[in-house]
Amino acid sequence: MAKILVESTPDLSKARDRRMTFAYNYDEIVIPQSVLEYAKGRTYFIHTSGCQANYVDEENMSGMLEKAGLTKASEIEKADVIILNTCAVRENAEQKVFGQIGNLKAIKQADKTKLIAVCGCMVQQKHIIDFVLDKYKHVDLIFGTHNIQELPQMMAEVIEKNVRLVNVKSSSEEIKENLPNKRLSSYKAFVNIAYGCDKFCTYCIVPYTRGKERSRKMEDILKECLDLKNKGYKEITLLGQNVNSYGKDFKDGTTFAKLLGKVAELGIPRVRFLTSHPWDFSIELIDTIAKYDNICKYIHLPVQSGSTEVLKLMNRKYTAETYKELVDTIRKRIPGVALSTDIIVGFPNETYEQFLETVEMVKYVKYESAFTFIYSPRKGTPAAAIEDNVTPKEKSKRFQELVKELEKVIKPSSDAMIGKTYDVLVDGPSEKNPEFLSGYTEKNKLVHFKGDISLVGEIVKVKINESHLYSLIGELVNE
Ligand code: 5AD
Ligand code: SF4
Repeated sequence: MAKILVESTPDLSKARDRRMTFAYNYDEIVIPQSVLEYAKGRTYFIHTSGCQANYVDEENMSGMLEKAGLTKASEIEKADVIILNTCAVRENAEQKVFGQIGNLKAIKQADKTKLIAVCGCMVQQKHIIDFVLDKYKHVDLIFGTHNIQELPQMMAEVIEKNVRLVNVKSSSEEIKENLPNKRLSSYKAFVNIAYGCDKFCTYCIVPYTRGKERSRKMEDILKECLDLKNKGYKEITLLGQNVNSYGKDFKDGTTFAKLLGKVAELGIPRVRFLTSHPWDFSIELIDTIAKYDNICKYIHLPVQSGSTEVLKLMNRKYTAETYKELVDTIRKRIPGVALSTDIIVGFPNETYEQFLETVEMVKYVKYESAFTFIYSPRKGTPAAAIEDNVTPKEKSKRFQELVKELEKVIKPSSDAMIGKTYDVLVDGPSEKNPEFLSGYTEKNKLVHFKGDISLVGEIVKVKINESHLYSLIGELVNE
């Protein structure tokens, strides 16, 4: 049995610390000789779950693996290097990953030269690392969100020393630039503008798994966006756990609104951003979105709850009233804007009346789309320590009720699109019916229509004929 080599393990109290400083690192990635040798004729597969930040991590890991000489396998079972890139935000995501790790056992037993790794937010938790080491002896490498750039070196250690390696730092002292990047799409790109989160909502694990808020330099972000534009990319989404905080750490007046305006001025057809916290959404930002035609008039504005009391317990720093005022201001200054949201049902001790305030919020805002979740206790977060008097059955009942209310507000916004023509960025054949192509409108509505596969990656005009709850059916319009 291979020995376990522990280089670093995470510690929640260290992950909570926000006093550390960080530096920008522009060094090129070096691939060790043993990895170059190992990679000859071999393939890799990365399975990612979770948010867009994880997908960018996947692109960087793919970039490093391809630099080493590995090629992408068509299926996970066929790959020599298998990486599960995980999310910790809710327990059900973690359960799925355990299932996936279990499925890889037979594959590793059939070929011991395969390298199986687990990374991402889930393994930023010490109890998960211990569980994986103990239960899943076929996992060779466990590494954290702050260790991604060390992937080639970590692989070298596993290959050369024949050890099971654990390398999960609690926090990061750097922003790594210049990582190789094998993008998942040739027309849509996600660009990190900041890492980490300092908001500490009481239910959320992210401030611990992704660390302190760190902004990339504006010049580095603009360089990456310009490069994407020159390569013909049609859509860029600026990414941060909380984009509104961008640049605050520079203490020189830099704001997210200024960055967004500069990215828009590069002339990329569609500019999006994710995610905004309602607490520090400035008028400057609202007016920047209104000013530029190529900034999509679609804002994801997680409300989490419509009850001011629950919001306080969640440490969200706004009230139901101030959220509504923000929505009013946004709707007034950005005509036709579409709003989407995230909602958590069943926060510890949420009363039915407090839940109804969330329903009321949904009716007030009339979201164009929403992601709904049942509260999932995350070990080490303040909310997980609260004794909860709401039963799982009651939580599911409220969840179903909320979904119904959401459907009532979402459907009319889709129905109103019938007969009108919209720009759609074509993604590819529809998952359900390959005769159709699928794509998204500027306001993030999913549209299916008949068209030639050569249109993938293009922005086309589609007239809407039919509206379903979560998608629309249309036809191509030739201009
Ligand atoms: N339980 C349920 N949902 C959660 N989210 C974050 N943490 C939890 C949790 N512990 C949801 C929030 C967030 C989205 C990404 O996931 O709604 O906005
Ligand atoms: Fe999941 Fe949050 Fe990590 Fe993204 S940052 S992968 S949502 S835990």
